[in-house]
Amino acid sequence: HWGLKTNWLGKNMIHKTTATSTQYVAHDAARENAEHGTVIVADEQTKGKGRMARVWHSTKHKGIWMSIILRPPILPAAATQLTLLTATALANAIAEGTTATPAIKWPNDIMINDKKTAGILTEMQAEQDRIHYVIVGIGLNVNHTRIEFPEGLHQKATSIKLETGIEHPTVPLIQQILQYFEHAYDQYMTAGFSPIKTKWESYGYKIGEKIRIRTKHNVFEAIFSGVAEDGALLAETEAEGVQKIYSAEVEWFHE
Ligand code: BTN
Repeated sequence: HWGLKTNWLGKNMIHKTTATSTQYVAHDAARENAEHGTVIVADEQTKGKGRMARVWHSTKHKGIWMSIILRPPILPAAATQLTLLTATALANAIAEGTTATPAIKWPNDIMINDKKTAGILTEMQAEQDRIHYVIVGIGLNVNHTRIEFPEGLHQKATSIKLETGIEHPTVPLIQQILQYFEHAYDQYMTAGFSPIKTKWESYGYKIGEKIRIRTKHNVFEAIFSGVAEDGALLAETEAEGVQKIYSAEVEWFHE
């Protein structure tokens, strides 16, 4: 009933009415040799995981909660590029399947009207130079109304329905996300990251604007000048010129 138009992605589709987290289901499946391109979808998650050990609210039937198992022939250090690739697939699917205008906030939050509507969590099992598997988790808020978000998220989070006024069935969106993902992944494997980077930047949120960057070690302000060939954020300051940032929390200034 998924009606996928993909060649290899989602040939093995695992559906759960409820899961703690599709990431856990995916890790278990991958450890038991689930094939490259296996997709796990849940109607609800009771322990949805966000980045930085945050909770991801995954209300039943209100969004897309899904994890993709990949076995990419790339170095562990390149896995970040898969996250940016996933963000472009999500942005494409939203732009095509809804009237909303998505933007990608580095590295991988999908914003609509300055509020977050989707997030991506990439986890990896690797040793030295070899990836055993990568799990790309996608959480997309589709049909939430305001009250379905916890109080603390009202300023920051949104759903496609809240921004467009229209309820969207999730299956066509899943089809589109997986189709765009497969296309981007195949392109990445043949042509490298460069076309993905161009796509990413076409959706890039606030490129050319001032940002505040919090890394593990310090906090500083810079101009966000785009993404590097390896997926790093490019931050420009007078003192340091252009720096590459691999892991940070980024804040934007509201004018
Ligand atoms: C973020 O913090 O922005 C990332 C959120 C990722 C949420 C998705 S929902 C499907 C998959 N299962 C999880 O528990 N998390 C990811």
